[in-house]
Amino acid sequence: MDSLVEKLSGLWPRSGLLASQFARALLARAALLAVVAPALAWGRSPMEAFAVVALAAVCIVVGDRYLARTRPRMRERARDGLVVSLLVAGSVHLTWLHSLVAPGVSPFVLPLPVAAMVATMLVGPPAGMFVAAASVGAGVLQGVLAGPAVFAALLTDVAAIASMSSLKDRARLVTGTSTVIAVMAVAAAASAALSGEQVNRVVSEMGLGAVGGVVTVVAALGLLAVFEALFGVTSDVRLLELANPSAPLMRRLMLEAPGTYTHAILTGNLAEAAAQAIGADPLLARVGAYYHDVGKLVRPAFFVENQTGCANPHANTSPSLSALIITAHVREGAALAEQHHLPPEVVDIIRQHHGTSVVAYFYQKAAASGDPVVEADFRYSGELPSSREAAIVMLADAAEAAVRAMTKPTPPRIEECVRRVVESKLADHQLDRADLTFADMERIVEVYTRMLSGLYHPRIEYPSMMHERGCHAGTRDEPSRS
Ligand SMILES: [Fe+2]
Ligand SMILES: [Fe+2]
Repeated sequence: MDSLVEKLSGLWPRSGLLASQFARALLARAALLAVVAPALAWGRSPMEAFAVVALAAVCIVVGDRYLARTRPRMRERARDGLVVSLLVAGSVHLTWLHSLVAPGVSPFVLPLPVAAMVATMLVGPPAGMFVAAASVGAGVLQGVLAGPAVFAALLTDVAAIASMSSLKDRARLVTGTSTVIAVMAVAAAASAALSGEQVNRVVSEMGLGAVGGVVTVVAALGLLAVFEALFGVTSDVRLLELANPSAPLMRRLMLEAPGTYTHAILTGNLAEAAAQAIGADPLLARVGAYYHDVGKLVRPAFFVENQTGCANPHANTSPSLSALIITAHVREGAALAEQHHLPPEVVDIIRQHHGTSVVAYFYQKAAASGDPVVEADFRYSGELPSSREAAIVMLADAAEAAVRAMTKPTPPRIEECVRRVVESKLADHQLDRADLTFADMERIVEVYTRMLSGLYHPRIEYPSMMHERGCHAGTRDEPSRS
């Protein structure tokens, strides 16, 4: 295989990585054509077979160009190209099997939109549209779809793509899958009615369409899990599962570190709104923020938000040891997340949420003691945020903790505080790898200020409350900044 790749690379005028990538892409397209060609050319004269294979080749080239425009990153494009190719090949073979085994049976009993649904959930709506066009085209060429059924099949695909794109919550998944089932039933009935069938046949076709819809939904969710595991792609459905409070790590956080759980939910709300404002992925930002401090489960009491009453285990620990304990939550969080098979995008957010910033409280405490202090010993040993979502979580986390520690938060002071957080991360080069523009950062400051002002606005203090507040005086500023 490699030698063939090398030979093909030699035919291409460029050398090195690009040439090798070109050759691999060419081989992948040729393999797809070879897989779908028998299903399309079966039982045809040589001239017809040549025509359908030529049409399939054009379709593959057009689809490739289409994907290239929507997925500019080469690595993602190769992976998504493979996902789309497998779905198209599976879909073409499904209709082929139907044409061979049950030529007279309604095509709507087949899970027709399943490939378009899975492509939408894994790669996005443009890929879903391409898969839909390719699979309906194949159905027409194989004689499985004809007349009104072509329109009906396209309609079910469009409904499936629209229902599965940008799933925000579980309710949308339920309505989306119900829509697919309903549209398939109606499309099957309408297709039969327009073909001049009797009423009882129309009704039975509707039933078959509904059955096809249920099979579609079940097959799509099953295939989604298989593709996620095989290719390491994270779908919105998986992220929605993780955002559920009953997800194992969320549940543990709620029971064992309630303060951190509340902080994570607040950070998640901030991150989601900021991602929406700058056109990043709001669901990934929310889920990443929910799990960013999961490493605190190892020693919850060492983090101020979990210290009920006035107990503080850092009181008897040296600043350098305290800093070690605090910074460990990043590494421990990433390990815990990997153990629970969280998606790599979420693990990256955990690993990157403090970057390489300084644990300021303990660094200053150590410096104040008069002993020689090395700043590097008080820095997190994580990675810098490499995505917009990771940067958003880093800023939401720091802004939430900083504003929470303010004694008299007013909207202008909150804005000043949030701005200072963003500027300090920028000056400390923590955002060097994240693809954020200054306009994005300005929007993030606006969103965080508005939301945190709503959350931490000054409250009317009753005399009894003022007395109670004294218990927490002096503990608020402790090492929670995480
Ligand atoms: Fe945090
Ligand atoms: Fe943290």
